[in-house]
Amino acid sequence: MTRLEQIVSFIRSVFSEPEKMIILHDPRFCGNERKYLLDAMDSNFVSSVGEYVGKFEKAVAEYTGSPFAVAAVNGTGALHISLLLAGVQREDEVLAQPVSFVAACNAISYCGARPVFVDVDRDTMGMSPEKLAHFLKLNAVKKADGFTYNKTTDHRFAAIVPMHTFGHPCRIDAIAEIAEQYNIPLVEDAAESMGSFYKGRHTGCFGQFGAISFNGNKIITTGGGGMILTDNEEKAKLAKHITTTAKVPHRWEYRHDITGYNYRLTNLAAALGCGQIEQLEKFVRIKRSLADQYAQFFAHLGIKFNSEPDECRSNYWLMAVILKNRSERDEFLTYTNDHKIMTRPVWILNNRLDMYADCQCGDLSNAEWLEDRVVNIPSSVIIPDYYSNIGRGLYMNSLSCGGIL
Ligand SMILES: Cc1ncc(COP(=O)(O)O)c(C=O)c1O
Repeated sequence: MTRLEQIVSFIRSVFSEPEKMIILHDPRFCGNERKYLLDAMDSNFVSSVGEYVGKFEKAVAEYTGSPFAVAAVNGTGALHISLLLAGVQREDEVLAQPVSFVAACNAISYCGARPVFVDVDRDTMGMSPEKLAHFLKLNAVKKADGFTYNKTTDHRFAAIVPMHTFGHPCRIDAIAEIAEQYNIPLVEDAAESMGSFYKGRHTGCFGQFGAISFNGNKIITTGGGGMILTDNEEKAKLAKHITTTAKVPHRWEYRHDITGYNYRLTNLAAALGCGQIEQLEKFVRIKRSLADQYAQFFAHLGIKFNSEPDECRSNYWLMAVILKNRSERDEFLTYTNDHKIMTRPVWILNNRLDMYADCQCGDLSNAEWLEDRVVNIPSSVIIPDYYSNIGRGLYMNSLSCGGIL
């Protein structure tokens, strides 16, 4: 068998799927999700009022150790509000990484600010503290008002937004130190890293704000949803207010005291989230065991598997291999997709997208290196017989998931 044939055969065998398409990451509902959803429907509170929103916020705060967690409509909305409350304003600049989903750059744009791109590390694929420090040393000046400005544009650096790529934590403690040194607020894009810890602390809890996504492709999902993490009580209250149209509480009056957003998470979505978060540790365990199998298999083929960096526990949300060059990458993508194994390259670097192509960039050699080589491979939580049982209520309230694993 050729190497590519062995890869297809191995992936089919671990997912116990001889024929059908194996996708990159699909959700698993095998706990109390159905029960909580029906309960939310029966309560008739399906939108933004209802007990599940508060319950889900509490569950996320408890799991992550964040003093406050504020639900949002999705991860992008959570990033947008986090940036606004961190103080990002029109004309500001925000240090972001080129290897990322476009959401952070878009959220920066919603604030009227512009991204400035700083390179990532090759092992974490998240923002590199060394590259960040070097960029700021060359380009930043601290002024008498206490803020840090870009020497070239004279615009303020108003935030730093690192991302925990594919669930592997970046070197966030070193980044937090640099942020403090330059007095630039740190907002973590923890969209992909629910369940990932760095030096024992949950990702998203190192800066002023962290934003999580519960989109359908994430390790746990609410269909669509997000969460803002913060340790600042006042900012948490403000986040709640501004994400819920900034309505002043009153028995009947419709008064809104600032321009708010309808970024509310629905009670239905939160009910789903309450069921999902109960499953999270089990999902991480199963994914880490899949990562072990992949690591051994690819080592045997001489292909580098993207293992977690030191001093962390990754949720292994999306697993990846690192190939030799772009032509090997493209061959891998073509063969696997032709054989109904969904694989994907890393995102086109954000600094290459039309709307961000004129933004300032540091040396992005690691990002460019990764862009040529990284391929994501199927990473869903493996639950035997999931598809034959789903939709029949077999998992509801049962131990079947836990029992068979
Ligand atoms: C790195 C990153 N940031 C932000 C988001 C945005 O989250 P959402 O899709 O919930 O808006 C996503 C994923 O969807 C993501 O992968």
